[in-house]
Amino acid sequence: MKFRAIQGEILSQESEAIVLYIGEDDILSHEFIYEANNNLENCLSDMASQGQLTGKKGELTLIHTLGHINPKRLLIVGLGKESDLSLDVIRNASAQFARRLRSIGIQRAHTIVPQANMNQIQPSQIAVAITEGALLGLYNFRKHTGKADADGSKLDEIVFVDKPSDRLETFSESIRIGTINAEATILARDMVNQPANFMTPSIMAQIASDIAKSNTLDLEIFSSSDLSKLKMGGLLGVAKGTLEPPKFIIIKYSGDPDNPSNNIGILGKGITFDTGGISLKSAAGMVEMKGDMAGAAAAIASMQAIGKLRPKINVICMVAATENMPSGSAQKPGDVLTTFSGKTVEVDNTDAEGRLVLADALGYASALGLNRVIDIATLTGAIITSLGDVYTGGFTNDQEFWSQLMESSVRTGEKFWLMPMHEDYKRQNISDVADIKNSGGRKAGSITAAHFLAEFVEDMKWIHLDIAGTSTSDRLTGYTIKGATGCPTRTIVQLICSLGNDS
Ligand code: BES
Ligand code: MN
Ligand code: ZN
Repeated sequence: MKFRAIQGEILSQESEAIVLYIGEDDILSHEFIYEANNNLENCLSDMASQGQLTGKKGELTLIHTLGHINPKRLLIVGLGKESDLSLDVIRNASAQFARRLRSIGIQRAHTIVPQANMNQIQPSQIAVAITEGALLGLYNFRKHTGKADADGSKLDEIVFVDKPSDRLETFSESIRIGTINAEATILARDMVNQPANFMTPSIMAQIASDIAKSNTLDLEIFSSSDLSKLKMGGLLGVAKGTLEPPKFIIIKYSGDPDNPSNNIGILGKGITFDTGGISLKSAAGMVEMKGDMAGAAAAIASMQAIGKLRPKINVICMVAATENMPSGSAQKPGDVLTTFSGKTVEVDNTDAEGRLVLADALGYASALGLNRVIDIATLTGAIITSLGDVYTGGFTNDQEFWSQLMESSVRTGEKFWLMPMHEDYKRQNISDVADIKNSGGRKAGSITAAHFLAEFVEDMKWIHLDIAGTSTSDRLTGYTIKGATGCPTRTIVQLICSLGNDS
C-alpha cells in the first residue's frame, strides 16, 4: 500500500471511497463535513441527531453517496474529544479506517490531512501519523501460510487531497518519513514473528548485511573465533549450549564524520530462542521465546530507517545474537565467566542470559568510547509484572538523555516509564565467588537486572529499555497487531533524528 498527495477538492474526487474526520464536540464543523451534509440531503445531521453519528473515538460510519457527490462512499472516522486528541489517536484511527477500506474491497481511497486543534502539532506531523497508522494497521505476518489475505482484497493506495497547492511538497515529505518509519517497524515485527528456525543468529547477520548494503552502511560481523579473540565470555558462555554459531553484529552509520564524538550506540539483545538453558523454562509459553531477539530486531530495523533518513549524527548498532539452549556442552549454574570488560560473572541462573550477552555489548561500546548508548532487551519477566504490555520500562544514568527520549515518545505514541535504580538494590547481585552474579533473586527483578548492566557501562550516558512486555501484543487494537509490535523502533529513530537535527 502506498500514499500519495495531490491538489484538489476531496468531495469532487471520482473515488471508490473518501475518508473524512469528525470530533465528539463539533461533529458538523469539521472540514468538508458541513458541505458533505448539504450535498447528502442532511443525512449526516439526521444521523447525528439520532445518535448514530457521535464522533466517538474508533467510530467508523460508512455512507453510500448514491450519486449525490462524486465519491461513491464516504467513510467518517470518529476522533473523540478534542481534549484527548493526540498524534496517537490519529495513528490508531488511520489503522482502523484502512482496515475497514480493505475489508470492503476498496483499492484506492482519498482522504484529507485533518485540521486539528492540538498544541504545537503541525499538519505535516498529522500526515506522518496517518501514513504510519495505515501501514502498521494493515500489517499481517503471512510468511508461512499458503492462504491469501484473509479479506481477499488489497488496498493499494490512499491519496491525500489538499486544496492549497503549496502544502503538497510538505505532505509528500511526510509520506516519505511515515513510510520509512512504518517499514522499519514492519521489519522489526517480521523478525520477531519469525519462528526461531527462520531467525537464527546467522540469518539475523544476513538481514543486517542486506540492510547495510542497500543503505550504504558499514557492517562488521564477529563469528565465534573473533569472539574468542575479543574475550567476549558472556556471549560465548550463553552460546556454549547451542549448535547455531553466535554472531556479534555491528552496523555503522556516519552522518557526522567531522564530529566523531557526536555519536550514539544502539544495542540489542538478540537471543533467537531462549529455552532458559540448563535452568530450563517450563513448556507453557516457551514458544514466546522466539521473540527474545526483539531488542536486536528494533536496533537493526532502526538502522534501516536511519540509513534512509540520514540525520547528522554517527550511529553504531550492536547486536549480540545466540540461542540459549541446554545440552551437554551448555554452561551450568555456578559457572564463572570472564566478560569482555574483564569483570567476572557467576552464572547463578542460565535463564538470565540476556544480561550476559549485553555485558559484552556494553563493554565493547564503552571501549569504543561512545558518548551515549541505549540498550534494548526483552530482559525480564519482572517488567511485565510491573508495567504489563503498556509501558516499556526504562533505566538511566542521565536524566537529560532520558528527557530527550521522552520528548521523542510524545511524537511516536510509544510509552516509556522510568524505573528507580537506588543503589540499595545492588546488594542482591553480590556473588561469593565472582565480581557479580547474574541473578538478583525474586525481588525487583528488572531493577537488579538493570544494575547488573550498569556495571558494564563506563563513562557513557546510558538508557536501558526492558521491552519484555511491550515487544508483543496479545490482541489487535488500532495500529497494534496481535504478535510483534515493533516497539520501540519508531521512538529510537525519532530520537536519533532529533539529536541529529540539534547538532
Ligand atoms: N527472555 C527472558 C525474559 C522474558 C520473559 C521476556 C517473558 C519475555 C517474556 C529472560 O531471559 C529471562 O528468562 N529472565 C529471567 C531472569 C531470572 C532468571 C533472573 C526472568 O525474568 O524470569
Ligand atoms: Mn532467559
Ligand atoms: Zn531471554
